[in-house]
Amino acid sequence: MSKIEKLRGFKDYYPEDMQKREQIFSIMRETARNFGFLPIDYPSIELLEIYKIKSGDELLKQTYNFRDKSNREVTLIPEATPSTMRMLVARKDLIKPVKWYNIPKLWRYEEPQSGRNREHYQFNVDYFGETGVEVDVEVIALACETLDRLGLKNMYTVRINDRNLMEKILTKIGSQNIPSSISVIDHFRKESVESIKEKLAREGINGENLEKFIEFLSRSYPLSDIDEAFDKIGLELLNDRDYKEMRSELQSIYDKGYENVVYDPSTVRGLSYYTGIVFEGFDNEGKFRSIFGGGRYDRLSSLFEGQETPAVGFGMGDAVLENLLREKGLWQVENTEVSYFVIGMGKEGKKRAGNILYDLRRMKKTASMENSDRNISNSLKHASSMNFSHAIIVGEKELKENSITVKNLNSGEQKMLSLNNLSEL
Ligand code: HAM
Repeated sequence: MSKIEKLRGFKDYYPEDMQKREQIFSIMRETARNFGFLPIDYPSIELLEIYKIKSGDELLKQTYNFRDKSNREVTLIPEATPSTMRMLVARKDLIKPVKWYNIPKLWRYEEPQSGRNREHYQFNVDYFGETGVEVDVEVIALACETLDRLGLKNMYTVRINDRNLMEKILTKIGSQNIPSSISVIDHFRKESVESIKEKLAREGINGENLEKFIEFLSRSYPLSDIDEAFDKIGLELLNDRDYKEMRSELQSIYDKGYENVVYDPSTVRGLSYYTGIVFEGFDNEGKFRSIFGGGRYDRLSSLFEGQETPAVGFGMGDAVLENLLREKGLWQVENTEVSYFVIGMGKEGKKRAGNILYDLRRMKKTASMENSDRNISNSLKHASSMNFSHAIIVGEKELKENSITVKNLNSGEQKMLSLNNLSEL
C-alpha cells in the first residue's frame, strides 16, 4: 500500500506540542473571561453567500468551497466574523453590549508559508452594541494582555490606524477610488515602493502629494511623533474628529500599561468590512507576519439584516504565535504535574495495583499502570522516561502489610504508606 500523505498546508500535532497549545488556549479563554467576554461557538461550514457580502475578493478566492448533496454552495469557514454576526442578528433579545469570544478552526486555501497554513485556529473576540474610545481600547488591550500573559511583554508592537481618517487623507490628496487605494496601501510592506507609487498614481495621487504620502507611509509613529507627522503632511487634520479619536485611543492604551503602540498609516487591513479603527500586532523585530488583526466594522450587521450595530473585534492566529514563542524559547512547557505510575509485582501485586490505579483516578490523580512484564528496575526507568513524577510499587512486602511504596522519581526519595491513608498522596 502506498504511504498516506498529509495534505500540503496542514499540520499534525503530537502530545509534546498539544500541551503548549492547550496552555495557550486556556490563557486566551481566561483573559477573555477576565475582560467580561463570554464563549460562543458556530458551525465549521456556512453558506458561501455570507462571505460574498463583505469579506472581500481576496478571502473569497481562498475559500474551501463546494456544493453539498443538496446542491447548496457552502464553504469551510475562512474567518469567524460573518458567523458571529449571523448569530448576533438572529437574537433580538440579547442585552447590549454583547461581548463574545471563541477559538474556531478556520480554513483558507492560501500559499503555505511561515505563519500561514491552510488550516488554523484563531482566537476571536468581538464587542457589539457600543462605540467610543474605551470600547476600542478594551478590545485592543485584551489582545495585548493575552500576549503579555503568554510571556511576550515588550516583544510586540500594536500598529493602529483609522479607516475614516485614511479616507479623508486619500480624498485630500486626490484619490479617485478610496476602496481601491486602500487595497494598494494594504500591500505597502509587501511590494516595492516603485510598484506602490505606480499604482497610487493610477488612483489619481501625483506629484508632491504622492512623494509626501509615500514618506508618510514609510514610518510608524509613537504618540510623541504623531502631531508632527500630521503637521508635516500638511492636510489640516490636527483638529479632525477621527484624528483626535485615534490619538486618544493610542494614549489610553498606553496609559493602561500597554506601551508598545504606534500610529501606522500603512495598516489598513485587507478585509473590506472595516469602517473605523483598524489595528495589527507584530513582533518587534518584524520577523513574522501579523500576530493578530482587527478593527471596527459597524456597517456589517446592516448587510445582514438592515440595522446597524456597532462592532469591534480581532482575530489572533495560532501559527505566528507558535513561531514567535519558539523563537523566544517560550514554547517548552515545564511538566510540573504530579502523576503516578503504579507497578504491581507478581499476579497478586498486579491485581492490587489495578485496584489502587482506579482509586487514584477517582481521587482525580493522573495515573497509569505497568501492563508489561518488565522487571522492576526497567519499569522504574520506563516511568521516568514517560515523565511520571512518582512510582507506586506493590510487591510481596506491601501486599502483606496492606501498604504501598511511593517513590519520587525526580529525587529518588521513597516512603511506605498504608493503603488506608491513600488520600494523603
Ligand atoms: P485576518 O487579518 O484575516 O482577520 O486574520 C487575523 C489573524 O489570523 C492574523 O493576524 C493571523 O494571526 C491569523 N491568520 C490569518 N490567516 C492565517 C493563516 N492562513 N494561517 C495562520 N494564521 C492566520 C480576520 O480574520 C478577522 N475576521 C478578524 C476579526 C475579528 N475582525 C473583527 N473581529
